[in-house]
Amino acid sequence: MADVEFRKVRKAWGKVVGVADLDLSIRAGEFVSLLGPSGCGKTTTLRMLAGLEFPTSGEIRIGGRTVNDLAPGQRDIAMVFQSYALYPHMTVEENIAYPLKKRGVPRGERGPMVARVAEMLQLGPLLGRKPRELSGGQQQRVALGRALVRDPKVFLLDEPLSNLDAKLRGHMRAELVELHRRLGRTMVYVTHDQLEAMTMSDRIAILEGGVLQQFAPPQEVYREPANRFVAGFIGTPSMNLIDGQLAQTGGRWRFEAPGLALELPALPPGTPGGEACLGLRPEHIAFGSGPLEARVALVEETGHETIVVVELPGGLRLTGRTAPGMALRPGEALRIAPDAAQAHLFAAGPSGRRLNAPAAGPGRAAASVSVPASAAHAGEPS
Ligand SMILES: Nc1ncnc2c1ncn2[C@@H]1O[C@H](COP(=O)(O)OP(=O)(O)OP(=O)(O)O)[C@@H](O)[C@H]1O
Ligand SMILES: [Mg+2]
Repeated sequence: MADVEFRKVRKAWGKVVGVADLDLSIRAGEFVSLLGPSGCGKTTTLRMLAGLEFPTSGEIRIGGRTVNDLAPGQRDIAMVFQSYALYPHMTVEENIAYPLKKRGVPRGERGPMVARVAEMLQLGPLLGRKPRELSGGQQQRVALGRALVRDPKVFLLDEPLSNLDAKLRGHMRAELVELHRRLGRTMVYVTHDQLEAMTMSDRIAILEGGVLQQFAPPQEVYREPANRFVAGFIGTPSMNLIDGQLAQTGGRWRFEAPGLALELPALPPGTPGGEACLGLRPEHIAFGSGPLEARVALVEETGHETIVVVELPGGLRLTGRTAPGMALRPGEALRIAPDAAQAHLFAAGPSGRRLNAPAAGPGRAAASVSVPASAAHAGEPS
C-alpha cells in the first residue's frame, strides 16, 4: 500500500513553478530519495509533504488520508531540516525531549523515550551538554534524535548530512541505513548528492526543473536512465553523451559522430533515424585496441582506478575508466573500443527520451540480479 502519495501536485508562485504536476507513490517502509540539482524542487516537495507549504493544486495523501488541509502537527511526520537549528540554551537531553514536551507527554514517560533514542544514536555520554559543546556531526545526530523520539509514520529529511565532512558523511550514511532497517519507517530523503541517493535508497525520484524525470531503484536508474538528463546526472564520471546521426542501412543500425562510427544492436521498431544522442558510460570503453583511433588528452589517477579522457580525430572527447597501472601519457595515440552492446540511445531535442532497451548480455551479470526487484517496482504507479 502506498504510504505517501502525490497526485498531480503542483506548486507555483506566480510564474515560478517549483513543482509541476508531480505523481509519486511511496510504499510503507520505503526509503525514497528526492534527487536533483539545486532549484529542482526537492525542498518544495518535502515542505508540501510536511505541511509547511501548500500545493497550488493536486492532492497529497499520507497513510491513505488526504492531508492537504492538515497542519504539520496533525500529519504524523517528523522532519529534519538542513540547518538543524538546535535550541542553544537547552542540553542535548532537553533538545531531544522537546517535541515530547510540546505534545504533552508526561515528564515521567519522556526520560525512557529519550534514553532509547540516545542509545540508538550513541548520544548517551553527551546528554548533559549544550549544542555549542558538540561537533557538527554530534549536533546532526541530536537533530535526528529530536525527530526519532517522536516515532512518526513518516520521516522527512532535507539534506541532513550536508554540513558534515566526507568521512562523517559516510559514517552517518551507514547509520541512517541501519536506522531505517531497524525502524522500518517510511523515509523521504532529500539530497543533491547522487552517491547518497544511490547507496541509501530503495528508490530514487529524480527531479529537474520541478518535473519528475524517473522514479526507480538505484540500479535501474543507472542501467536504464529514462532520458538524457538522468543519464548525465547519475554516475561519476558522467556518461559520455554524444550528439550524432542515427541511420539504418540493410537492417543494421549505425550511429555516427565526428571521429566515431558504431554499429548498434537492433533497436525497437519505429525508432526514428536522424539526429540522436549516444550515451556511453566510462566503464564501457576499452583502451589499447579497437576500431577507433584516439589520443590521450588527460589522465587522472584516483588510486583504485584511472580516469582517461581521450580525443577523437574530429575533436570529440570521451571519458573512460581503466584499472590503475595502465601507463597512459597525455598526447599518446591509442586505439579504443566502445562497447556498442552497452550503449544508451536518446532522442535529440529537449525530451531526450530513451530510445533503446537496456543492454542484455555479459557485463550485466551483476545487473541482471536486480531485475526481479526492478520488475516488481515497474508495475507500480509512479
Ligand atoms: N517562496 C518561494 N517563492 C518563489 N519561488 C520559490 C519559493 N521557494 C522556492 N522557490 C523556487 O522554486 C524552485 C524550487 O526550489 P526548491 O527550494 O524546492 O529547490 P531545491 O531542489 O530544494 O534546491 P536546493 O538543492 O538548492 O536546496 C526554485 O526555482 C526556487 O527559486
Ligand atoms: Mg533544498
